[in-house]
Amino acid sequence: MRAVVTGVAGFIGSHLADRLLAAGHEVVGVDAFTSTYDLSQKRRSIEGALGRPGFRLVEADLRSAPLPPLLEGAEVVFHQAATAGVRASWGAEFDGYTANNVNATQRLLEACRGSGIRRFVYASSSSIYGESETLPTSEDALPRPISPYGVTKLAGEHLARLYWVQHRVPTVSLRYFTVVGPRQRPDMAFHRFARAMLEGRPITVYGDGEQTRDFTFVGDAVEANVLAAERGENGAVYNIGGGGRVSVRQAIADLEEILEVRARVENAPPQHGDPRHTGADVSRARDQLGYAPRTPLREALRQEAQWLKAFLGRS
Ligand SMILES: NC(=O)c1ccc[n+]([C@@H]2O[C@H](COP(=O)([O-])OP(=O)(O)OC[C@H]3O[C@@H](n4cnc5c(N)ncnc54)[C@H](O)[C@@H]3O)[C@@H](O)[C@H]2O)c1
Repeated sequence: MRAVVTGVAGFIGSHLADRLLAAGHEVVGVDAFTSTYDLSQKRRSIEGALGRPGFRLVEADLRSAPLPPLLEGAEVVFHQAATAGVRASWGAEFDGYTANNVNATQRLLEACRGSGIRRFVYASSSSIYGESETLPTSEDALPRPISPYGVTKLAGEHLARLYWVQHRVPTVSLRYFTVVGPRQRPDMAFHRFARAMLEGRPITVYGDGEQTRDFTFVGDAVEANVLAAERGENGAVYNIGGGGRVSVRQAIADLEEILEVRARVENAPPQHGDPRHTGADVSRARDQLGYAPRTPLREALRQEAQWLKAFLGRS
């Protein structure tokens, strides 16, 4: 298959490209190298892919680049590019969120009309749910985001669905629940925690640490993309979670054991936009896609810690 992966230099997109290339697929990887975090991390994340013959990197901004040439001969588009993260989405930063998450998604979907692709997989987010009334949460729950980021991801999902309904672009949306593993974004909790612990600094925990998350190993999220490309139902949304909830406090205890470093925790007020709990009911993804999360949080944390040590030159 020939695939287009947008956001290919990012955390999830780079793993997805590696997975597709390892299976012998051709990948056109698109990324604008936005300055949301250290560009050297993005460059290093795609080093492996750049060394493979089936890979072509296109440095382009989906907000403005001519898109039809990127889609030539493509069978599947995996749309991972976005401005990600809840906390930074308030205030003046919102412009970047709407431009990269809504406008760029609309441009890409528009370019896919009549392009002959057989699947468009959109990276959505558990943040579209906000504070869930029921845990684990099924896809039928009413989406009520509590962050501007969540609003933009939900808008992208609606665009994906309506381009299927109105224009027969064969879209599927995957609602990832907090993804963990090597190459995690530096603004995400475990990257921040592990780095601070390795550097002997205190870690900042928002709230009391008893908030829970459904954590998903990055390899499981990648596998969900592959399954969605093959078996997803057009216009559908699927929860992609790790199969259970863990408190932030428990996850820090796991990190302490893995790193053999005691965390010095400083509590800060809960952040606007962070839900208290998230939990994925993955039965639809299991039944329709054959999705089964395989890697428990502890192993995901071990792999992330090992990667971070190497990234920081400490292994
Ligand atoms: N990481 C998670 O836990 C998580 C959870 C839920 C949803 N998601 C979604 O998954 C996707 C990937 O997230 P991630 O954590 O890998 O983020 P990331 O920031 O590491 O990767 C996103 C990439 O997209 C690129 N990009 C942004 N705007 C672009 C544009 N206009 N044109 C081209 N490239 C552009 C960035 O340069 C970046 O490399 C995003 O859509 C995000 O909203 C992530």
